[in-house]
Amino acid sequence: MKLTVIYENHAGFKRNLLGAHGFSTLVEHGGIKVLVDTGTDGEVLLRNMEALEIRPEEIDYLFITHGHYDHTGGLKAFLEARGKRIKVIAHPGIFRRRIALKPHRRKIGIPFTREELEELGAEFILSEKPFEFAPGFISSGEIERRTWDRAVGYLEENGELLRDPVIDDIALIVDLGDSIAVITGCGHSGVLNIAWHAEDVLGKPVKALIGGLHLSGASKELLDDVVEKIDAEKLYAGHCTGIDSYAYLKARLGDRIEHLHVGKTVEL
Ligand SMILES: [Fe+2]
Ligand SMILES: [Fe+2]
Repeated sequence: MKLTVIYENHAGFKRNLLGAHGFSTLVEHGGIKVLVDTGTDGEVLLRNMEALEIRPEEIDYLFITHGHYDHTGGLKAFLEARGKRIKVIAHPGIFRRRIALKPHRRKIGIPFTREELEELGAEFILSEKPFEFAPGFISSGEIERRTWDRAVGYLEENGELLRDPVIDDIALIVDLGDSIAVITGCGHSGVLNIAWHAEDVLGKPVKALIGGLHLSGASKELLDDVVEKIDAEKLYAGHCTGIDSYAYLKARLGDRIEHLHVGKTVEL
């Protein structure tokens, strides 16, 4: 498996790549290419793809980790640039109306309707259950919250605001044979729950857990809980992990954790 980070909060050191809030990564395995998430801004996504020599036409599947704008904002530009149909794997909850109240009231859901994306060629395959959508590529399905999670924001339903459990937060599991790789967008389900769930789905240990761990602003107790209980040989953390939390985890986990940036590749 080879993973290439396309969209991330940090630009890294290669030339002509832009860092911006959001997440997108290409995962290649067994000759199949899956684009996980699309970042916030389609222009940044397409520019980084071009600089990394990744063409929209060569992607076989899209996998959307959850319905927040910083993972779905590039969808429309990607579909337009691609110009042909593509299967989009996600949870049925991705189109819910989402609001954040801090630092000010704003919409944080997908900035497009399902219909307009379908007109541009998106073929949604929406499921709450784990399933293999291509050889070696498994959608985690809904992730059970056995311990703390990192849900954020509100759902707007019938004019009322309800706390959003981000139930649509799913992870991509790649079957590596004896072990698995797990790719998460924002980690809203909680990094411990994600690793435990992925392990149970395939009954194999987690070789690497890669993506946003949503630990920004997390307490020392919570970070210590991650260090003590995380069931993954290696962590590749980026996006909403939070620089302070990353520094704390790095001090405790050493070589077991690495930071992500645009252009970084991980081969397993
Ligand atoms: Fe995010
Ligand atoms: Fe998110």
